[in-house]
Amino acid sequence: MAHQIALVVLLLVSPAAMRAAAAAGACAGEKFPAGRAYATCEDLPSLGASLHWTYDAAKSSLSVAFVAAPAGSGGWVAWGLNPTGEGMAGTQALVALKGGSSSSAPAVKTYNITGYVPLGGTSTPIAFPATDLAADEGSGGKIRLYGKLQLHKGMKSVNQVWQVGSSVTGGAPDKHAFGAANLASKTKLVLGSKATAATAPASEPSPAPIAGGPSPSAGAGSDSGASSSVAPSASKNAAAAAGVSAPALAVLALVGFLAIV
Ligand SMILES: *[C@@H]1O[C@H](CO)[C@@H](O)[C@H](O)[C@H]1NC(C)=O
Repeated sequence: MAHQIALVVLLLVSPAAMRAAAAAGACAGEKFPAGRAYATCEDLPSLGASLHWTYDAAKSSLSVAFVAAPAGSGGWVAWGLNPTGEGMAGTQALVALKGGSSSSAPAVKTYNITGYVPLGGTSTPIAFPATDLAADEGSGGKIRLYGKLQLHKGMKSVNQVWQVGSSVTGGAPDKHAFGAANLASKTKLVLGSKATAATAPASEPSPAPIAGGPSPSAGAGSDSGASSSVAPSASKNAAAAAGVSAPALAVLALVGFLAIV
């Protein structure tokens, strides 16, 4: 009985709950074109971005796919490594620019970012020789930027920086916004760390449902105990995400209860 109530509450709030669940391991659900596979993925902590990568320690070669939505449909996304600092200045960046034409694939350029100065329309050399540069468009208007960087021998961890912008002028990325999320877009990339790899949900049930329909685990009998124990906090979070007030949720739960008894 208890788990049936939990199930009803879960179903009532399922779209929000599903979105919350999908947001949790979002990078694991990314479907790349054939031939593009990465050992590890990491949801980055701001701008809804993720990094997928494979590090070949013997060759100091890092293959990456950076995925993020530009701030506008004709905008750009960028990701890079900063071997000399934490912020934007010093970043050796890969930039994918959508620009005006909606049909063609985004162009990819490299920039040695020296500071807060406008970038030109032409690539500049970066400290990590970059090959296999390409970009395509993923779901939800996201741009997926691919490349392979030749790192320095023995690099174990390095600062990474990413950014999104809304427009492109003359083949150059225009200045990005300076909101909290734009300023928070930097972390450390730990190469070849088993601990980091383990945080990527390897056995995430795929594909992650986005909205509607019962969750796979709620339907599985063996999971019902776990479902009912997580339901209260999950539905509270879901309510917060969906903007549903606590009294409204209580009414929903009561309706669910009455429907069962
Ligand atoms: C990047 O720019 C800095 C500052 O101008 C310069 O010292 C460095 O050599 C440049 N790196 C490359 C790879 O050109």
